[in-house]
Amino acid sequence: MIDFNHKTKTFNLLSKSAFYAMQIDQDGRLIHMGMGHRPIKCEGPVVSGLYQIPNWIGNTIEVPCFGDLACDEVALKISFPPAQGAGSLPIRDFRPRYESHDIVEDAQPGLSPAHGQSTLVSSPRQTLRIQMRDIEYDFYVRACYRLTPEHDILEAWLELDNRTADTVEIEQCFFASWTLPFGRYLLTYLDGFWGTEMHISRETLSFGTKMLESRTIHTSAYRNPFFMLNRVGHAGYDNGEVFFGQLSYSGNWRLAFEYRHDLSLRVHGGYNPFDFQMFLPPSATHSTPAFVFGISENGWDGASARLHAFQRERLMPRAPDAPRLRPVLFNTSEALGYGLSQDRIISLARKASTIGVELFCIDDGWFSARRSPRAGLGDWTPSREVFPSGLQPLIDEIHNLGMRFGLWVEPEMVNPDSELFRAHPDWTLGFPRRPRTEHRNQFILDFGRPEVVEYVYNSLENLLSVNTVDFIKWDMNRIVTEPGSVCGKAIWLRHTEAVYSIIDRLRARHPGVTFESCSSGGARIDAGILSRAEEVWISDNTDPLCCLATQEGFSYAYCPRAMTSWVTSKNNQQTGRSSSLGLRFDVAMRGVLGLSVNLLELSEEDLICCARHISFYKRCRSLIQDGNCHRLQELDEHNASVWQFVDHTGSESVVSIVVRDHRSAQYHPYVKLKGLRTGSAYVGKDHHGRIICKATGAELMALGLPVHQKCDGMGSIHIAYSRTIHFRIAD
Ligand code: DGJ
Repeated sequence: MIDFNHKTKTFNLLSKSAFYAMQIDQDGRLIHMGMGHRPIKCEGPVVSGLYQIPNWIGNTIEVPCFGDLACDEVALKISFPPAQGAGSLPIRDFRPRYESHDIVEDAQPGLSPAHGQSTLVSSPRQTLRIQMRDIEYDFYVRACYRLTPEHDILEAWLELDNRTADTVEIEQCFFASWTLPFGRYLLTYLDGFWGTEMHISRETLSFGTKMLESRTIHTSAYRNPFFMLNRVGHAGYDNGEVFFGQLSYSGNWRLAFEYRHDLSLRVHGGYNPFDFQMFLPPSATHSTPAFVFGISENGWDGASARLHAFQRERLMPRAPDAPRLRPVLFNTSEALGYGLSQDRIISLARKASTIGVELFCIDDGWFSARRSPRAGLGDWTPSREVFPSGLQPLIDEIHNLGMRFGLWVEPEMVNPDSELFRAHPDWTLGFPRRPRTEHRNQFILDFGRPEVVEYVYNSLENLLSVNTVDFIKWDMNRIVTEPGSVCGKAIWLRHTEAVYSIIDRLRARHPGVTFESCSSGGARIDAGILSRAEEVWISDNTDPLCCLATQEGFSYAYCPRAMTSWVTSKNNQQTGRSSSLGLRFDVAMRGVLGLSVNLLELSEEDLICCARHISFYKRCRSLIQDGNCHRLQELDEHNASVWQFVDHTGSESVVSIVVRDHRSAQYHPYVKLKGLRTGSAYVGKDHHGRIICKATGAELMALGLPVHQKCDGMGSIHIAYSRTIHFRIAD
């Protein structure tokens, strides 16, 4: 509910259990009044506007602008051309004052998907738009707040509207600035590198400004545009008040945590000001993407649960012809590498279908001269050498085997050794007559040129029109080093706009095709891409024990329904470590199950084992993909990761236990399950259908389950131990 008190000019945005309040002061400035979870039984507005405490520290401007503020961090820094007859000094001074507001249904932030596909829940949501005008210029900013009350989530964005007669320069532009209650805060965020994406970092904020950002032109593997904050000692795994946020944007972004000596904390987030530039001509408007923000009263686990539900229900596209649950995937990457041949693919596909795979995706190496990473990017036609009759006969074969068909593409790139580059050497990013880095033998295409964007769109559109492709894995394997573009510094934003628009147009034209976002592993995972891709690839490091940390970090910010993990070969390609098939499946089935292992080299016994695990996964995947996910134990506690998935009625649940380093003398606390029906009796079975446990819901929630397996002997075992148990109410 959004409430406005006309007398005191106070806004209250009220969700299921939280509030967010603002007030217009006597000078017309929009002031932040507070936020947090609602006092028990307080059904109406929390802040009346009569709140007055002498000498209090407060009065934070809701949309901080350079002009009203000078030395603090600002959301907007705007430069007006020199005033007539007043010298040549641009006016870098913007002071927005309240003019009007309205409450509308379903306003959209900038860069919202234009593919027209619906989400699981599409009931209208209220958006509050507060319009402010500069004290002198006809330049407007609208502060917009869209409320998803059932998940305690607010999305905020800014709409800029230039009604002056001149072009105005926007030097800095965040999407929103959130003011937290006074206190000392613990920041949780996700950082990493190629192969170690999304590892959890925690630190107590010290005074000053802490920044998380990307300068890579995409989301980046180094940091993810997500955070959680809680007052030190006031919250933990599943208790206490936690504030959380993420940016719906896949380009250069920044989150700035500005913590001052008065114990005030502001979180600003949006376009990265680094090398940023935007010009707004007369009559032009610009809407930023959304900064998603929420409040949990049940710790980090409760914050993740809210984000998961929000993404599943309100963000992720549901293609009309796509299956309700994400299919079990086979990808050729680790199984065949670049050694693709039609016969090998067909033999693999036959094996894959017999063990229960539902979607067969050909990874890198299927097109033009792409027999290695050195050639072919940019030329999106099937290799005649590998597929003499084109792709369609192979696709038909895969469809006849009862599987969907997927293809890998990397559309933002070009190899110098390609037809595209030979025809258009000037279509890449870089500065004339300056060195250009050829990272991974490839250049980035200049999406500042509309003709390049059209070329890429047409190539992919043609591919999808000529061949009955059901799934696209969209990869992006290098970062920007020399950002020279025909559109200047605007390229940072233009690139992301182009990626989004190509995907949106393809989705609109081919509504049955689903997408996976990949970027050398997990370098493009964010709320912006999640509204265009059904799933994301989290890491090229497929060693199950390494994967656990990436999965754990991922689950903080994103829902398991979007997370693809693969079962790969026994001796892992990246780490060389050997692991059992059971462990590989137990880890890979925590989200969307995939495989990339050479099935032709597996024994009959292993293939039977794969089939058994896949059918087990299918029996419980609706819980994994659509249920509530709880981290019952995290890796920093005894090196064990325990997740629980439970359906919304509490009648079924899956518990996934992985102990990274199992020792005889190391014990773990029992983990207490959540969300079950106290009075019901449950039976828990493993993938063989063997009964592992019988207990009532009350017992499982009050006494819990053992994590470690009792082992005899005194020595350390030092091996991983894993088990997945499917609980159902006993007949
Ligand atoms: C990087 C991806 O993360 C891998 O899964 C694979 O698709 C390779 N690119 C192919 O070049």
